[in-house]
Amino acid sequence: MIFTNFIQNRRSVRLFQTKYLDDDMKSSVNNAIERVLDEEKSSGIDIKPIYSGFEVYNELDGKAGYSGVMVKAPAYISLKYKEINPANKIYGAFQMEKLITRLIGLGLDICWITLEPGPTPEKVKLFGDDAEFIEYIVAIGYAEEKKPFTPEATSGRKEVSEIVFGDEPFKSISIEELNRRGLLDIFSSIRFAPSHKNLQPWKFVVSNDKVSLYILNNESIDISLGDAGIIMYYFYELAHGSGIKSEWEICDLNTKVEDYVLLAEYKL
Ligand SMILES: Cc1cc2nc3c(=O)[nH]c(=O)nc-3n(C[C@H](O)[C@H](O)[C@H](O)COP(=O)(O)O)c2cc1C
Repeated sequence: MIFTNFIQNRRSVRLFQTKYLDDDMKSSVNNAIERVLDEEKSSGIDIKPIYSGFEVYNELDGKAGYSGVMVKAPAYISLKYKEINPANKIYGAFQMEKLITRLIGLGLDICWITLEPGPTPEKVKLFGDDAEFIEYIVAIGYAEEKKPFTPEATSGRKEVSEIVFGDEPFKSISIEELNRRGLLDIFSSIRFAPSHKNLQPWKFVVSNDKVSLYILNNESIDISLGDAGIIMYYFYELAHGSGIKSEWEICDLNTKVEDYVLLAEYKL
């Protein structure tokens, strides 16, 4: 499947079969994790599989996920920051989403799960000293078969015009201009990126020589950092696929526009 179709069809799965992953699948997952961890961008994180998923579920039921609604899965993958700082949160989510695209490629279904912050007793029981450095796990397994005629669960997304702006923040930019710059297809696809509570807390400003990513900073910027890493990952993949080969540079988080903070820039 081409990558643009992949993003548009990527869905969170919250109902899994009770079937555990077999040894072949576990070794494919382990290899996929190793490949991601081998990259420079993973230097501040660690990612581990947990194949005794139902123990994790029993421990975290009522204590993780939206309003304590934990997703029950046969396996999970934990994301640990070696140190708690914005870059590790951003690149942690970036690398985890990259891993997710590969796990979906293996035929697995997934759902990100937000844990309570800090070393809660349940987290310490599961993760020991790592507890305070783990804020997300990802449920993996095989989706429960849908009953016939159940409509597809979809979460709406903002339009390109609601997330992409022209030079002055946040003045509109025409679709023709985005097309002329070779960016329309990229933004039309990455708007489908997943985010915490589907808040889509991102705005882009396209100027002559760069794309700037701003991120919502209402209650806590922390929640938006993971979402930023995820959309940065999709932008990066699609930009590289279109020959716009650059790297995201993370900013100092001091430039504010309205409720948004300038988070990162990508040279064009
Ligand atoms: C960083 C992050 C944290 C998330 N946390 C949870 C969670 O705790 N519980 C849950 O059910 N879904 C969680 N999700 C899934 C999002 O709600 C979901 O991706 C979004 O609503 C879009 O829906 P879709 O993935 O089906 O397209 C999370 C997603 C992200 C990216």
